[in-house]
Amino acid sequence: MRAFTKVLVASVCVAYVAVKWTAPRFNAESLRGARVLVTGASSGIGEQMAYHYARFGAQIVITARREKVLQQVAEKCLSLGAQKALYIAANMGNESDPDKVVDFAVEKLGGLDYLVLNHIGSTSFGMWDEDVEHIRSLFKVNFFSYVQMAKRALNALEQSKGSVVVVSSLAGKMPNPFTAPYTSTKFALNGFFGVLQHELSMKKSNVSISICTLGLIDTESAMRKVRGVIDAPAYPATEAALNIIITGATRQPELYYPWFTYIMTLTKDWFPSVTNYVVQSTYKYKP
Ligand SMILES: NC(=O)c1ccc[n+]([C@@H]2O[C@H](COP(=O)([O-])OP(=O)(O)OC[C@H]3O[C@@H](n4cnc5c(N)ncnc54)[C@H](OP(=O)(O)O)[C@@H]3O)[C@@H](O)[C@H]2O)c1
Repeated sequence: MRAFTKVLVASVCVAYVAVKWTAPRFNAESLRGARVLVTGASSGIGEQMAYHYARFGAQIVITARREKVLQQVAEKCLSLGAQKALYIAANMGNESDPDKVVDFAVEKLGGLDYLVLNHIGSTSFGMWDEDVEHIRSLFKVNFFSYVQMAKRALNALEQSKGSVVVVSSLAGKMPNPFTAPYTSTKFALNGFFGVLQHELSMKKSNVSISICTLGLIDTESAMRKVRGVIDAPAYPATEAALNIIITGATRQPELYYPWFTYIMTLTKDWFPSVTNYVVQSTYKYKP
């Protein structure tokens, strides 16, 4: 038994070193002058991504609904070293806005290297209230606008050997209570962009797609929702943002941040009842 444990530990270590060794290296210089469009960049992880891209010397277009806030974020991006920092206010629930934003970015930047899809519409955190209309409208913001923007940007990305970076969630891999509308949109994103990854690869397209699975991150909006309800650690938005950027820049198909979200996606299939018990016991809920 002891020998078996030693062999097991040694194998895990070798596998870990092999994965690290063969992982593509991130070259920060590759982002200098890169033409980037970040959605949902007026707050949270999107705002932090804009600042990181700025420090790397990228040319950035940011978008969200609040124009005044976008203006402040763009000014900070310039002070941090962005070669360009432009903004365009848009509501991703409107049918024409996703195209308008992509066209603006491609025109102002003279092409596009990274399309970073990150925005989410607001939704409550609680038992499903049977509101079907809300799910329909959340799908417009969280899902259909992503698909529409990817389609609109594909030509420009093909020309630049560019990347689509999709910010998804652990909720898109395993259902968690109190998030039915949000979780549905994230599962849809993983499905659509997972298929697109296959098809672009089969067509030998120049475009890479990275799907980022995040656990609980300490953004203001997330913390406001879960405070007093979930007992789980939240990870820093700035670190999550940097990991997303590196995943896109190294053209990796997936990111799991923090790392244990990957283990959780495995154990939910291996030990479903244990996983369900653990998930439900992190919630403070009394019927
Ligand atoms: N925080 C977490 O714990 C966590 C965990 C897993 C995954 N994620 C993912 O990470 C991403 C960012 O999350 P976050 O916590 O940083 O969110 P956040 O702080 O709430 O930011 C959401 C962004 O989307 C914009 N937005 C909202 N409605 C919009 C609309 N109708 N049209 C256009 N833009 C709109 C917001 O700006 P305006 O209000 O100005 O429009 C804001 O910039 C999301 O995809 C989320 O699913 C987050």
